[in-house]
Amino acid sequence: MDSLVQGVHHITLCPGGAQQDIDFFTQVLGQRLVKQTVLMDGSIPIYHLYYGNADADVGSIATSFPYSRKPGRAGSGQLSCTSYTVPNGAITFWKDHFDRHQAEHSGVQERFGTKYLRVRHPAGLLFEMIEEGGDNRNPWMTKDITRDAATRGFFGAVLSVRDVRDQESFFVDALGFRKVGVDGPYHRFEVRGSGPGRVVDLHVEPERAPGSWGFGAGTAHHIAFNVETDEALVKQKAVYEELGFTDASEIKDRFYFHSMYVRSPGGILVECTANVPGGFYKDEAPEELGTKLHLPPWYEEQREAIVAQLEPITVPEENRPRPGTDAVPRPVVAAQHEPVEEPKIPLSRYKATFDADKQTTNSRRG
Ligand SMILES: [Fe+2]
Repeated sequence: MDSLVQGVHHITLCPGGAQQDIDFFTQVLGQRLVKQTVLMDGSIPIYHLYYGNADADVGSIATSFPYSRKPGRAGSGQLSCTSYTVPNGAITFWKDHFDRHQAEHSGVQERFGTKYLRVRHPAGLLFEMIEEGGDNRNPWMTKDITRDAATRGFFGAVLSVRDVRDQESFFVDALGFRKVGVDGPYHRFEVRGSGPGRVVDLHVEPERAPGSWGFGAGTAHHIAFNVETDEALVKQKAVYEELGFTDASEIKDRFYFHSMYVRSPGGILVECTANVPGGFYKDEAPEELGTKLHLPPWYEEQREAIVAQLEPITVPEENRPRPGTDAVPRPVVAAQHEPVEEPKIPLSRYKATFDADKQTTNSRRG
């Protein structure tokens, strides 16, 4: 069977403070803040911030739940590093750039014959810049980060596992990846296609203690793969069930896409994601991406209560569109607050009540 998965769709992380996260992503990693919304599960308002390249391409989107209420525990069974492609020869720039921002980095490393450089987010999360020529995605640029160095989107991701065997079977049999090589503790897998963002490296760390699975600052939460259509999402759920992964979630309406989750054998939460018309452009114009808070229509009536419980944030001026750097304008498919289109498949929409009392109760946990 041809694989339904086409590559990485997004990667979701839990940093700590929201402003700290915005500053790191936009100034240190040079990403465009492309969406401000909220977590669509649970009853505590948590930001959901999306960062990507200039066009907010699928396969460039890192999303974050700033979760200062509780620290997480980094470890095996988690995504351990988010990998971006940068042009050949750009590594030296990034080393100097990270030094200028006093960001802790690894120095230039090499695996599978390719240079890369890792950097640590203030919350502990790891990112890496991997040199790869020929990635023609449209980069977001800042006054410090020009086209010849800027990230294009995801190269892929590194996942930490204690034992490679069952996680390898999952990627090959359930997701349709093929194994393409081993370099020391790294086992590399690629999914079909020719575009970027199709690589996953399993990092085998037999002695590493398992990391936490829930939301917690300083940990990755999940990796999402693109399956394109709702029908493919339904088929992917059937693939899981046929292989014995019967704990796949229901299909959830995330407004900008539809999602289905399963816990993979190595411990990593894996999402598959089907795109909806308009995607990230369905509720704001290309030049306005990320500049204000958007809520799904089923949360709009509680906007005041939600906003009152969120950390105030400032979108850096540098992250806003400037002439000559914005994406080619695309039509906004549906204006905000229009009735939500009825889905063709059964979808779950979580609708919570965001009262301040709940916030106080949950804050004590941290
Ligand atoms: Fe996700």
